[in-house]
Amino acid sequence: MKRPVLAANWKMNMGPGDARAYLRAFADRTPALTDRTVIICPPALILLAAAEVLQERPDILIGIQNIYWEEKGAFTGENSPGCAHEAGARVALVGHSERRQLFGETDEETAKKCRAAVDSDLIPILCVGETSAEREAKETDQVVLRQLRAGLSELATGQIAHIVVAYEPVWAIGTGKTATPADAADVHGVIRRALARMIGAPASEVPILYGGSVNAGNAGALLAAADVDGLLVGGASLDPMVWASVCRA
Ligand code: PGA
Repeated sequence: MKRPVLAANWKMNMGPGDARAYLRAFADRTPALTDRTVIICPPALILLAAAEVLQERPDILIGIQNIYWEEKGAFTGENSPGCAHEAGARVALVGHSERRQLFGETDEETAKKCRAAVDSDLIPILCVGETSAEREAKETDQVVLRQLRAGLSELATGQIAHIVVAYEPVWAIGTGKTATPADAADVHGVIRRALARMIGAPASEVPILYGGSVNAGNAGALLAAADVDGLLVGGASLDPMVWASVCRA
């Protein structure tokens, strides 16, 4: 059986001091995790501080929330994937809906970022999800499949088998509205079948995470849904005690 993947997205919250205190509290509260994969994505400026605190906890992976697709050069303000890896990141979120909506990130850019992540030995978590208008127009599957195919278009079949996908309906992010486990299972099934058409049997090994207003109360039911292999959590990951209980779900 696949290990569940629990990923925390701190977004633009916490400084190095808060992060150190949080990670110490979380690590104390959470004995070495052998049956699940926990990922924490702090702001990029805190990667080094996080890696330092988690030195003795190789079971907790660090991720970066966004990368640029070039390795180095005149790209003021951007974060290099290789540099993120050197700072301790092993995972990169790609195409989070806030990147798409607030910063105009396109499907084409998510493709380049997925490719750049893989080239730098970072596991991309490709985020896909429909807005409420798209959901009302019954375009969920179409939108999710477009984002999925486009985002993976620069990867080889063997590389796609080692990525992570996160289904995050935009209307559920930070709103307190969650997809029902049945709704999540439906969309995850659509994603799984699309992956199977792309890469065959290894599609069953690609973790598909659900994200959008996950909390300690609903995490267990969502994780139990078919094809839900893990969770991507924003707000409920900001308190180490709450996050520890989500990780035990
Ligand atoms: P939320 O955010 O858990 O606060 O809804 C999830 C995300 O944006 O990844």
